[in-house]
Amino acid sequence: MKASCVIVIGAQWGDEGKGKVVDLLAGRFAWIARYQGGHNAGHTVVIGGRKYVLQLIPCGILRGQGSPRAVIGNGVVVDPQALVTEIATLEAAGIEVKGRLFISRRAHVILPYHRMIELAAESAPGRVKIGTTSRGIGPAYEDKMGRRGLRIFDLYDRGLLRAHITNALAEKNAIAAALYGSAPLDPGQIFETYVALSEQIRPYVAETALLLNRAADRGESILLEGAQGVLLDIDHGTYPFVTSSSTTAGGACIGTSLAPTRITGALGVSKAYCTRVGGGPFPTEENGPRADELRQRGNEFGSVTGRPRRVGWFDAPLVRYAVMLNGLDSLILTKLDVLDSLERIPVCVAYRGLSEGSMPTSVAEWEQVEPVYQELPGWQCSTEGITDYAQLPPRARAYLEFLGQQAGVDIGMISTGPERDQTILLPHSRLAGMLDGAAVTAS
Ligand code: IMP
Repeated sequence: MKASCVIVIGAQWGDEGKGKVVDLLAGRFAWIARYQGGHNAGHTVVIGGRKYVLQLIPCGILRGQGSPRAVIGNGVVVDPQALVTEIATLEAAGIEVKGRLFISRRAHVILPYHRMIELAAESAPGRVKIGTTSRGIGPAYEDKMGRRGLRIFDLYDRGLLRAHITNALAEKNAIAAALYGSAPLDPGQIFETYVALSEQIRPYVAETALLLNRAADRGESILLEGAQGVLLDIDHGTYPFVTSSSTTAGGACIGTSLAPTRITGALGVSKAYCTRVGGGPFPTEENGPRADELRQRGNEFGSVTGRPRRVGWFDAPLVRYAVMLNGLDSLILTKLDVLDSLERIPVCVAYRGLSEGSMPTSVAEWEQVEPVYQELPGWQCSTEGITDYAQLPPRARAYLEFLGQQAGVDIGMISTGPERDQTILLPHSRLAGMLDGAAVTAS
């Protein structure tokens, strides 16, 4: 029998609550792997009232000792300083990392000049302001695709490392000074820092392609943890207001080395409403007092940058698009309880004037989008912490069923609060079946 190999992706613009979902599902999987992005992600997990924000290391690491094992795949861009800090924070919290975390030798490295260029370029006149997380993610992927990147393995060839930093800085310092008036960075200092960091991460560096494929051959289950969301995908998102990697399910194969024929399922995570952080199109965005209420109730402030998130209503055409692009088997809806106080809840069911299934391509087209709303009555009582679907108020059930119909996908799980146990697993859903199939332990 094929090993269970399931992808979890954000079905909106990121921040859907993947951290909690992955942490919850991780108990059923032997391996959890990240496949794209970097420390721009902020996966928040609350366990026993304690909050953890993971940026690079897959959330599965928060499960007890031994299992699951966590992989940072080749598709991730790694800032060694961020990684070392995250490892130290986990260890200080008593979480075992050594022997459980494996970082791909082929993953690309973020260097200080990536951040320098990004910070300067984002505020340069005439540039489209994307509102990035300023972590150097885009410039690191640019260097990767430009075939002038530095990979984790290269850190250990000191001659190569020194030459790489010297040559790269000759170019980057000149560009940054000429275009943005930035002060130059010192190659010698960066070299020394990266040598020291490389020694700290050495015990974790591995040939993860082999590790994951051998694990799958032995029948061990693997959960592939996406970062950001479908609409931030470099190809399929609201370009250019996107991140610089393939956040969609296809990216999971490239970013880990697991072949498409290994994948057994895909899950999407969406809020019961919608948020976005950074610039770019957002057809169902709400402003004014109702937006403030959603933002406060949902604590919608970025976990990485602290920026207030833009908030709006569930956008079914977007989620239908996510279902199509990723072949989603099941949808997990989070933060239902945030809607508890509302009298009426708008849901976008179509975009006026656009044929079903088609999505705008340019920012100008996105600006023309006119959402068609259907308003549903709110339930106006607390759903916080409910764990049984039958206990939800009838109007909340009607709302969820409407979202499922509109999105054209099975609803597998509902989150009613940040803690692990504030969750409803729908027992007859496709998700429940997939979890039964995944319950294989690591050897
Ligand atoms: P970058 O990924 O830092 O290049 O930022 C590009 C865009 O993606 C910006 O709009 C960011 O706000 C957004 N973004 C990046 N990572 C996340 C995330 O984890 N959650 C939500 N938005 C994100």
